[in-house]
Amino acid sequence: MANLKPPLPRALRPKPKGPSEDNGKAKPGRKEKLAQKGISTIDWIDERTALSGGARWVMFRKIPRGTNWFYTLGSASLFAFLSQAVTGVILAMYYDPSATRAYESVRYLTNEVFLGEFVRGMHKWGSTVMVILVFLHMGRTFFYGAYKYPRELNWVIGVVLLILTLFMSFTGYLLPFDQRSFWATTVGVAINGTGPLVGPYLNDFLRAGPEFGVTTLARFYALHMLVLPGAMAAMIGAHLYLVARLGTTAPPWLKADIPADSRKDGT
Ligand code: HEM
Repeated sequence: MANLKPPLPRALRPKPKGPSEDNGKAKPGRKEKLAQKGISTIDWIDERTALSGGARWVMFRKIPRGTNWFYTLGSASLFAFLSQAVTGVILAMYYDPSATRAYESVRYLTNEVFLGEFVRGMHKWGSTVMVILVFLHMGRTFFYGAYKYPRELNWVIGVVLLILTLFMSFTGYLLPFDQRSFWATTVGVAINGTGPLVGPYLNDFLRAGPEFGVTTLARFYALHMLVLPGAMAAMIGAHLYLVARLGTTAPPWLKADIPADSRKDGT
């Protein structure tokens, strides 16, 4: 049906905001110009890469009813990982992985470098926070039944991520090379050695030989700042791909309302 209402007189019409007060004839303000520039830069990149399709696929999606704060634990774990990566890179700029200089390099970083103690503290406490977050996130996915079909593979990838996270903490603990880290790691490596079959081999591999020696520290450092974070980044990529592809699981108490034969995902 046509709209028969007469148009409002000009003076009574709501005032348009910003520089377009005279129906777009005024020149755009500085903010508008910047926004326009930003949009055209994104368009320029998108025209050449078609990345927006991927971004849309990842970001614009329906989420199940009942999604709550517990669903943020995965993203919190991701943030903890990124924070560890950034602070770790800064620490690596000062750290010296040699048995005779490691302790001194950490002392120098803590006491002499501007904000060194802060960055070191963030990395140290961040590692504990990350372990807690990953465990909580695992608990959330377990209690919400998110490990079931079709997300079993993502659960398995998650378990690998948990083991890698724990190994990151373990290898990082030795690096300050003070009495506590030395003896704690000696005990930790010996415990590894008691594992069935692979235990003794893992033991030799970690120590880089039959005894704790000068190469042990270099091995822990290489594992801690290259091998494990690289593997974690790859695993997190796969984990997030599956989250984006499969979506997240609705809370089980809501799903129970739906008759089983009308569920589309077969869960
Ligand atoms: C570095 C460690 C980890 C990171 C960065 C991470 C990240 C994420 C993110 C961002 C999500 C989507 C949001 C959410 O549901 O919270 C997710 C979902 C999921 N994660 Fe993780 N995760 C990690 C470890 C784990 C672990 C240890 C497990 C289990 C053993 C796990 C199992 C799952 C499962 C099954 C889902 C799908 C959840 C659903 O469908 O509702 N993740 N993860």
